[in-house]
Amino acid sequence: MSNIVVIGTQWGDEGKGKVVDLLAEKARMVVRFQGGNNAGHTMVVGGESFISHLIPSGILHPDKACLIGNGVVVDPGVLIEEISHLQDRGISVGPHNLLISENAHLIMPYHKLIDHGRERLKGDNKIGTTGRGIGPCYEDKATRRGIRFCDLIDPDAFREKLSSILGEKNFYLKEFLKSETADEAAILEEYLPYAEVLRPHVTNVSVLINQAVKAGQDVLFEGAQGTHLDIDHGTYPFVTSSNTVAGNACCGAGIGPTRIHGVIGMVKAYTTRVGRGPFPTELHDKVGDLIQERGVEFGATTGRRRRCGWLDTVVVRNAARINGLTGLAVTKLDVLSGLKTLKICTAYQYKKDKLQEFPTNLKVLEQCEPIYEELPGWSDDITAIQDIDDLPKNAGTYVKRIGELAETPVQIISVGPGREHTIVLQDPF
Ligand code: GDP
Ligand code: IMO
Ligand code: MG
Repeated sequence: MSNIVVIGTQWGDEGKGKVVDLLAEKARMVVRFQGGNNAGHTMVVGGESFISHLIPSGILHPDKACLIGNGVVVDPGVLIEEISHLQDRGISVGPHNLLISENAHLIMPYHKLIDHGRERLKGDNKIGTTGRGIGPCYEDKATRRGIRFCDLIDPDAFREKLSSILGEKNFYLKEFLKSETADEAAILEEYLPYAEVLRPHVTNVSVLINQAVKAGQDVLFEGAQGTHLDIDHGTYPFVTSSNTVAGNACCGAGIGPTRIHGVIGMVKAYTTRVGRGPFPTELHDKVGDLIQERGVEFGATTGRRRRCGWLDTVVVRNAARINGLTGLAVTKLDVLSGLKTLKICTAYQYKKDKLQEFPTNLKVLEQCEPIYEELPGWSDDITAIQDIDDLPKNAGTYVKRIGELAETPVQIISVGPGREHTIVLQDPF
């Protein structure tokens, strides 16, 4: 029996959806434990592409349970849309395979208005959020004013909580953010029917996971975002509002740390970032444009163009330490085919010092220059390759070097978006 956490080591969009879908084959259940519909996880199966924002990426396997843990913030309208979109495409989704924690917090219309209002007010200093109300929702959770699924399915509790908070929210929206306000009657009209649709899905997710663990079944925990978007360990304040690191799988799902057996760190073979914030290896040249185009680097949630740069192993090593990684999954290696030489950042030059560790202070990070190691590229298309020994020699060397610099074994190599485009070196389970 193994329970495995999959997390992003960089700034998100490393290919978590693809690898979780692949590994779900061996698991009994797949659990999301943080984030919300700021996430966009892509699965490509039989040439068809599916993007999930809230539903765990195990949903394409008919016999797996997909669980949304207490640590996730859920926009119920988006969740219902996602369920019916999948159903329209012939995927079975119902209370038999999709369960939501009664403790998960709800994203409310005023959270989205506040998110947009704040970003607008910040102007050039904005974070570049996804505008989905994620930060304001987690903020209410921390200040104990949130509304949870257990409240949604109890209409009296829902009305009472909404009415007690709305005055303050609307005062802030109108007077400070100069934004439109939220209407109580309209929210009730929208949200009470959501309760009826979602009620059969709402349960104690922690109990279900722990039952599965006791029965010796494998559980997969699916992280969203990436380590450097973590509210504590990321490039604060250019981060999301939850802990994205593996440790939060326990908190956000209701399971003890003694039940986790492995942590896979997702590493894109280069680096991307959506939204603002420091990015030492970012490329502002033709190579950056080429990677962006070849990798089709557009946000799966907002459609924004992703910023692109060379692989940064200071970042990956930082993630290896914080998450206690037991293995790496390297994705999008195929995108680098055709580049004459590749650069890997191994350390940073900060004034006269060579830094091996990722700096916490943003002012220091902003002045860091990457120190690169150059490796020869390869020209062949590698998407059909199934065995590490069949990779061009230079591609094999590039992957091997990632493992060495990250001080973590590479277990999976992804050479294309489909399930079949994968080389498994070591089964994580
Ligand atoms: P996630 O948020 O970590 O799940 O990643 P996204 O789905 O936002 O972005 C990853 C993108 O890369 C998606 O479009 C995937 O279909 C695609 N992808 C994943 N792995 C590979 C790969 O190895 N090669 C290529 N070319 N595309 C990949
Ligand atoms: P997945 O799970 C990439 C970024 C936003 C913004 C910052 C804060 O698909 O990897 P938020 O809306 O969370 O308050 O925005 O975080 N961000 C992501 N970037 N992938 C994601 O998710 C992201 N989720 C949030 O772009 O910079
Ligand atoms: Mg994504």
